[in-house]
Amino acid sequence: MNEIQILIVDYGSQYTLVIGRTLRELGVRSAILPPEKAIYFLSQNTPKGVILSGSHHSVHDVNAPQLPENLDLSGVKYPVLGICYGMQLLSHTLGGVVDRPLLHREYGPAMVSLDVNHPLFLGVEQQTQVWASHGDTVKELPKGFHSIGTTKGYAAMTDAENRILGIQFHPEVVDTKEGKKILQNFLNICETKIDWNPTNIIKEIQKEVLDVVNTSLGKNVILGLSGGVDSTTLAALLAPVLGDKLVCVAIDTGGLREGELAELKINAKSAHVSNLVVISAEDEFIKNISTTTDAQEKRGKFREVYSKIFEEQILKHNAGFMIQGTLATDIIESGEAGKSALIKTHHNVGLLWSVDDLHPFRNLFKYEVREIARTLNLPKEVYERNPFPGPGLYLRVVGVPVSKDYISLVRMADNTVTEIVKKHNLEKEISQLVVCLIGIQSVGVKGDERVYGYSLLVRAVKTIDFMTAQGYYFPENVVNEITSALTQHKEIVRVLFDMTPKPPATTEFE
Ligand code: XMP
Repeated sequence: MNEIQILIVDYGSQYTLVIGRTLRELGVRSAILPPEKAIYFLSQNTPKGVILSGSHHSVHDVNAPQLPENLDLSGVKYPVLGICYGMQLLSHTLGGVVDRPLLHREYGPAMVSLDVNHPLFLGVEQQTQVWASHGDTVKELPKGFHSIGTTKGYAAMTDAENRILGIQFHPEVVDTKEGKKILQNFLNICETKIDWNPTNIIKEIQKEVLDVVNTSLGKNVILGLSGGVDSTTLAALLAPVLGDKLVCVAIDTGGLREGELAELKINAKSAHVSNLVVISAEDEFIKNISTTTDAQEKRGKFREVYSKIFEEQILKHNAGFMIQGTLATDIIESGEAGKSALIKTHHNVGLLWSVDDLHPFRNLFKYEVREIARTLNLPKEVYERNPFPGPGLYLRVVGVPVSKDYISLVRMADNTVTEIVKKHNLEKEISQLVVCLIGIQSVGVKGDERVYGYSLLVRAVKTIDFMTAQGYYFPENVVNEITSALTQHKEIVRVLFDMTPKPPATTEFE
């Protein structure tokens, strides 16, 4: 395996893994490590470049994370690029001044003016839109540095040799229009080579899993199959190397959408899964989850039943390993990657199993898994499939305890909206559709009667990686059609549409 070319030091930004993904898109492998682990890495390796990520910290925090003590700042061994907190940390450490203005916080899109003669900004528009998300700013540059970009303050800096660089905005976020070009320029400065492709990743993952599985004598491997792109791709990738040792377990949680179980079975076939076990556990899930309306608690209750069922399967099938299609995004959002803050608990992250737990896709993003699925010749229905949360429709009944009736209602509603979206050929424009029951009663009128009923909420988002998302605006005729179809149900008096972007909202309500 090729050596890691770029070290990304993770200071806990929500976007750190997106930097790694963007570098892979540019064909370059990288390692993302927290500062403490980066020290060890740097003591053993000389990468071709180092990127310092953003952070929710301020350099003035008492416990502000620091630069790895053995990071070479002479520019001799490798170029260094500080992004946001990374730039502030470089400035602060090298004798510049980082200010903490009370009022001037930049958040969201901003225009910057760049020195396009600098190698970092070659080929970039002089005035370009970037994504900024910071409270602190660099007020004075360190000695020997000069500005190569401005907004209201310094947006970018360089040393005289163009080796130690800083940018205040986030090039890895898609809202930075020319961010990818800027990262490509940094790779050019680092003189990296192209070394990432899906075929290599498939081989690496097969080898990684086989090496681990071969250490146990005769133990089988359980894979939680949801029918979604991640677990199906993982099954297709492992089926040829694990053969009969691979036991795929699918649970009918009662929170599945219309026709989803049938689809799962078809997808398992196209992944050449030979051992598929389907467990029906609707009653058990409902009984447990209906005891709370709190979003985190509901997820907790879902996890309890989910892990209990898998533990039973582990015993039954003499398994030594649990393999899941957990992605980098799930790990970041659960606060497990580096130091990123907890947003919500994904159902399949951080569960403790009685056997070894493997997450071979832990460094990959959705679009990369889709690429792997395509490389494995899986059908379009698999690699183009929109994501759906593991706890399923249980997260789509908001504010009232879940019941079989409410789950059927959101299932029907989801199916109705999905069909309307298909009919109007809007599938390509939407990354995910969320239809939920909002458990607040309000007054309506049906026929001549006053009705006191619930609302359904429809939310569609457009996104590349679900780290950020834009709310989708349905055309007016489609809004009317959806509203009319959903209010046919006797208990539904209103249909709400939600276009809030992420952040500040998330895709799901819970
Ligand atoms: P949010 O709501 O955090 O969701 O913007 C991002 C993406 O993740 C999906 N999601 C989950 N997927 N298990 C999963 O496998 C979960 O517990 C879970 N929660 C959210 C969500 O539907 C969206 O695609």
